[in-house]
Amino acid sequence: MSNLNKIALEIISNGKGILAADESTGTMTKRLESVGVSSTSENRLSFRNILFSSSCMKKYIGGVILYDETIRQLYNNIKIPEIISNMGSHPGIKVDTGAKVLAGSREEKITEGLDGLRDRLKEYHSLGAKFTKWRGVYIISEKYPSKLSIVSNAHALARYSAIVQECNMVPIVEPEVLMDGNHSANDCLKKTTEVIKKCFDELILHNVDLSGIILKPNMILPGNNSKKKISNKEVAYLTIECLKNSVPPEVPGIAFLSGGQSEIEATENLNLINKNNNTKFIMTFSYGRALQQSALKYWSTNPDDISGTQKVFNHRAEMNSLAAQGKWSNQLENK
Ligand code: G3H
Repeated sequence: MSNLNKIALEIISNGKGILAADESTGTMTKRLESVGVSSTSENRLSFRNILFSSSCMKKYIGGVILYDETIRQLYNNIKIPEIISNMGSHPGIKVDTGAKVLAGSREEKITEGLDGLRDRLKEYHSLGAKFTKWRGVYIISEKYPSKLSIVSNAHALARYSAIVQECNMVPIVEPEVLMDGNHSANDCLKKTTEVIKKCFDELILHNVDLSGIILKPNMILPGNNSKKKISNKEVAYLTIECLKNSVPPEVPGIAFLSGGQSEIEATENLNLINKNNNTKFIMTFSYGRALQQSALKYWSTNPDDISGTQKVFNHRAEMNSLAAQGKWSNQLENK
């Protein structure tokens, strides 16, 4: 077993998943302001540190994706990556510099951040990062994602992954086909399959060790404005079909993004995926909003109640860990 495969498995095995706490300052500001909290560096750190020092970290969270600001912060004189490692979890870091307008297809985006990446990675590694994340974004409509967007984002994801492995860290490969739009679940299935297949063509071309990556895809869902809703069971079935047809068997596991699903929806869908998982892939969570929403809401009205906020977060993490093993139920959710 290679060292990268070992780290990947430590992050996602035994019902563990990933806490995505890598919101950029702009995104975190929106999240904090939506619950009436001002987005100071101190507030961002306080909330995140409450999560990182929750007891659920030991049992249910195998890795935490940080943002550049957070990986450099200290809480009570202890470095944040150290707080995370002391909880038995791996610190990770978002290394792309965001999705920008794609020249040649101006409605679409290409993720940037390759220039100078090797040097930034060396620094992040020295700060304690064991894994990294890069997110490519794709829109769906009749003509999108375009071939240009599929090819150029796959190329960037592969170049990123190769450099990350060279620096001894596990790359999370995140091709996110967005939920925005009125497309059907079948459109999402078709386009997501095409997007993921192209990512693997490029990863293989760039000699990336597939046993040392984690794939972070979207689930197969109808667009958020689609009139044709489908059941959670169908979501699970289509998501498994997509991954069976697009992911090579060497990949150890898949950690889904929540992408705008509600907390319960994201848990319920993950649970059904695992109940019906007839692949060899580990299927777990790498949620941002679907792990943090309730805890953030609670904390915004009870800023001094650290243990109360942690209780809310612990519950969400436990429910998603159960879902990652196909053992979640409504009764457990509400007990
Ligand atoms: O890149 C996206 C985040 O890491 C996951 O966030 O679960 O809120 O979609 P989300």
